[in-house]
Amino acid sequence: MSKPFVWGAAAASFQIEGSLNGEGRGPCVWDMFCNEPGNVRFKHHGNNACNHIELMQQDVDIMAEIGLQAYRFSISWPRVLPQGTGQINRAGLDFYDRLVDTLLAKGIAPWTTLFHWDYPYQLYLRGGWLNPDSSDWFAEYTQIIVERLSDRVSHWMTLNEPQCFIHFGHHTAYHAPGLKLGFKEVLTAAHNALLAHGKAVQVIRAHSHSTATIGAAPVGHVYVPDNTSPECIAAAKQATFAVQKQDCWNNTWFADPMFLGHYPEDGLALHEAFLPDFQTNDMDTICQPLDFYGANIYTAEQITTDGKGKTRLVPSHDGDRFTSMDWHVVPESLYWASKFFNERYKVPVIITENGMANHDWVDENGRVQDPQRIILLKEYTDALLKARAEGVAIDGYFAWSIMDNFEWALGYDRRFGLVHVDYQTMKRTIKDSGYWYKERIKTSID
Ligand code: NOJ
Repeated sequence: MSKPFVWGAAAASFQIEGSLNGEGRGPCVWDMFCNEPGNVRFKHHGNNACNHIELMQQDVDIMAEIGLQAYRFSISWPRVLPQGTGQINRAGLDFYDRLVDTLLAKGIAPWTTLFHWDYPYQLYLRGGWLNPDSSDWFAEYTQIIVERLSDRVSHWMTLNEPQCFIHFGHHTAYHAPGLKLGFKEVLTAAHNALLAHGKAVQVIRAHSHSTATIGAAPVGHVYVPDNTSPECIAAAKQATFAVQKQDCWNNTWFADPMFLGHYPEDGLALHEAFLPDFQTNDMDTICQPLDFYGANIYTAEQITTDGKGKTRLVPSHDGDRFTSMDWHVVPESLYWASKFFNERYKVPVIITENGMANHDWVDENGRVQDPQRIILLKEYTDALLKARAEGVAIDGYFAWSIMDNFEWALGYDRRFGLVHVDYQTMKRTIKDSGYWYKERIKTSID
């Protein structure tokens, strides 16, 4: 008998909170990155975002109205520890305490992500993820959070998309902190982030006041077969688990150490010249028992085979569906990726993010009509539930995002929310897709 399925929605601290200096938050790398002209579209920044710090009660009321069973949020490390380590900012910690209580009062389970990219600027000045102490800094922060919240929070994710903050943040400079490091240093930062993950899991297990359910929320290229021949399925799986040269945007470089206790062979061979100096017992630290594989999935590439062992990518067809991020709409990605991840890592899969960006507007009647998002959510969740019905261990789905928010280097222009945010007035409007999701949750047979 599989576990009950959890329907939720997600957001992240920097993308919604605002209140830059309110409650004594210290600066994070994204504050600095936004201040540099040319980094973020329209010079947008996170100073106000959705003003969630002040409107939290209203936001949780909306989540309850939509019928969310769980809400995945992240904690701003520098709001709790303005310097990254040391002195705790009580007011910051109190905010998350209130958020958890407010969620629970509405029957919504809090799912907490410890790190979703708002790295403390003070620690960045000390070398950030390149500093050999960085994993200990993360463990110290984790312990503070766990001691305060774990009597009420039992679901944890350590890192959100290490692929993204390492690759875009430390290699291509598309994201904060905006570095273009050589690949050896990139892999050093990645290794330290993996150590941080492992130490955080140990801290949660050791200090949690309740039984903890722990995972991470990685991302990576997903490939789906264009037909169900065993050869094509095998090719899609192989590609999903392959490492590309000088690229962190893959599944296995991060997930294999976390779940299997070693780097993938193909990656080790490809990156031989760039490998940092690992300690022999590092993998024992990184590879801790985990309870689920959190997957952030929005799109996929399609693969086909010629029957003679050759594979190739299927190009998109004219008129194919793309979201406002220019991401190809591929609902089967949730079906195949869940299968692949479940098979390789042997833990239940939870879709920790999925959804679409659009340019949504409020109409003259105060309504936000977003039929494309409804279609997308329906098709993706149907594909996921199909895999679950076939026996794949899949325990939940989190829509990204509960509300429109700061889409990193793209600013506020792309809207991912089930709830529209008017950034001038901070008015929230549940979109048609939010009402559709409410029905999906209500009528789900799980
Ligand atoms: C990845 C990230 O986790 C999230 O912060 C971002 O907004 C969405 N996916 C959409 O790009």
